[in-house]
Amino acid sequence: MNFQRTLVTAALPYANGVLHLGHLAGAYLPADLYVRYLRSRKRDVVFICGSDEHGVAITVTAEKEHITPQAVVDRYHPMNKSAFEKFGMSFDNYSRTSLPIHHRTSQEFFTHFHRQGVLKEKEELQLYCEKDAMFLADRYVEGTCPNCKYTQARGDQCENCGTWLNQTELVDPKCKLCGTTPVVRKTTHWYFPLGDFQKRLQAFIEERSKRDRWKENVLRYCESWFKDGLQDRAVTRDLSWGVRVPVPGFEDKVIYVWFDAVLGYISSTMEWGEQRGTPDLWRKYWQQEDTKYVAFIGKDNVVFHCIVFPAMLMAWNDGGGEQFILPENVPANEFLNFEGQKFSKSRGWGIDLQDFLKYFPADPLRYTLALNLPESRDSDFYLKDFQARTNNELAAIFGNFINRTLAFTEKTFHGVVPPCGPLGKIDKEMTATLKSLPATIGTLYERYKFREAVIETMNLARAANKYFNDSEPWKTSKENPEQCATTLHLCLQIVRSLAILFEPVVPFTAQKLWTTLNLPGTPSGEGWESAGELRLAEGHSLNKAEILVMKIEDQQIDNVIQALSGTPASPAPVPALDVKPTITLDDFKKIDFRVAKVLAAEKVSKSEKLIKLQIEIGSEKRQILAGIAQYYKPEDLVGKSIVVVANLQPVKLMGQESQGMLLAANDPAGKVTIVSVSEEVPSGSVVR
Ligand code: 2FM
Ligand code: ZN
Repeated sequence: MNFQRTLVTAALPYANGVLHLGHLAGAYLPADLYVRYLRSRKRDVVFICGSDEHGVAITVTAEKEHITPQAVVDRYHPMNKSAFEKFGMSFDNYSRTSLPIHHRTSQEFFTHFHRQGVLKEKEELQLYCEKDAMFLADRYVEGTCPNCKYTQARGDQCENCGTWLNQTELVDPKCKLCGTTPVVRKTTHWYFPLGDFQKRLQAFIEERSKRDRWKENVLRYCESWFKDGLQDRAVTRDLSWGVRVPVPGFEDKVIYVWFDAVLGYISSTMEWGEQRGTPDLWRKYWQQEDTKYVAFIGKDNVVFHCIVFPAMLMAWNDGGGEQFILPENVPANEFLNFEGQKFSKSRGWGIDLQDFLKYFPADPLRYTLALNLPESRDSDFYLKDFQARTNNELAAIFGNFINRTLAFTEKTFHGVVPPCGPLGKIDKEMTATLKSLPATIGTLYERYKFREAVIETMNLARAANKYFNDSEPWKTSKENPEQCATTLHLCLQIVRSLAILFEPVVPFTAQKLWTTLNLPGTPSGEGWESAGELRLAEGHSLNKAEILVMKIEDQQIDNVIQALSGTPASPAPVPALDVKPTITLDDFKKIDFRVAKVLAAEKVSKSEKLIKLQIEIGSEKRQILAGIAQYYKPEDLVGKSIVVVANLQPVKLMGQESQGMLLAANDPAGKVTIVSVSEEVPSGSVVR
């Protein structure tokens, strides 16, 4: 296929809670990497997303909080939109399904299906709660999944195995509102005849999966659906929150959330066109055959994007008139776990994006997530790995190469790109590597192999560091200045290439680097292929270098771990500095601080907090008690050089004498860290 443009969508997250890192690794980061790469390739691309604002989960939240469903989505939509922006998601439009444009679009599809006779009206048995006097649509009912036996499967879907259920299939169903067992009652709904589309859907997936190499995991899900045989599905619900069914006599029902949500991609594209003053622009992306449509999702959405949505578009197209394109690929990711366990809102396990970004910048997170994307199987995010990737790769390889190159240029060539002389063997090898990389990395992006693309990109920085080392410019600057200039000239070219090739992964850092290079526009504006070329002109002046990647300290990671294991996952508030009344220097001098060596330590029996320490202060031996047992093991203290108040009046604690007090820092979360000094400082030394 000779595609002229690309339409990229990322699953519309529910505006019923905040985004966590698992969401990013599932659909959003891969979609953004792909789009940023395409833009850098100067392809015509539009990137669409928005909030999914219907569904029972939202109504349940509203009922719990005694507010309207609109108030729920009005709270979470801006939060998620802003968190996405801070994370660097480059959507062209982030819409909402509660907008009139979306309601109109969904109703138009529904009416079209109804008129064409696609939808079937059926009276069927549904679960009804007599106590709450309502039909229990979707999440209003919970029971055991007939497929995997998970006990909290919902009326429409099992969260555990992903099965799309008819609610009457649930074993031992219970009303979510009152906990009673519902009865079955007849109600009339409109059904979409998915089964009628099975053959065409199979042919569609067979063709596209070969053409654009669909991922194995996605194909496996589809096959299992086809094996079971597709069935008619109810696409209306007895609810009040959602898109009203536009059929006379059915105004008290709404369209099933998934049946309207997927159309949200179309209405969001329409809104984008309208905002730009070109209301028909969306048609180019949805209705021209030479558009490539790629839908990024998490694995739990496969059935809706590979089966339901294509079937809906086929049904529309069967009516003649304007024809919609179908997805060319649906690169769904598996799930990301957090510190070895599933993200879980109900168990409070995981870390929200907006909280994470209070502790750390977006780019190191993007880099680490990109290397841990669950592309073919579930993967894990560990904070320690995040720290190691940031410090040992982003800072120590990428950042270091840039730093040393810029610092050397500043010092030796006054911050100006030096001339390039004749190339030696390693210079030629380096330029050849550089030349080949945009295509190599580009192919990986085109094939949705984002982890590998990022690894290859970092390999350029690795190769560049080796080139710098092997060229030994610190020697040639004296012995062979022309060679030194050539080395630095090429290193600066690589710095420029790194800004372009790393832009999809670390866009904020790449832009900062671009500014340091004193180049106009943006790295992606320069064009992906140009990363293989030597475009920095001799004599071009650079701006002063700044630190590009900050290393992450153990303490920063510990703070997050502490906050996670404590109460909510948000940074401990920093209290205003609340110091004690001023004392004079003479007051201060009254305290005798001394270095002491810990000779022995043991827990005080029957005390959770106290450790008994035998210490040596110069020639004197003493015993002190300290409330540090929750933070230190006694054996880890032996040999440490600590600081004690040596002239504090002795006190008795738990019947034991304490002849002094050790100094320790108490952080706002209550964690205690002992003040220690280098072991070379002799015990008894005065501290002031
Ligand atoms: O799983 C979810 O979070 C859904 N809100 C995704 C919807 S994708 C599309 F249909 F809009
Ligand atoms: Zn299940």
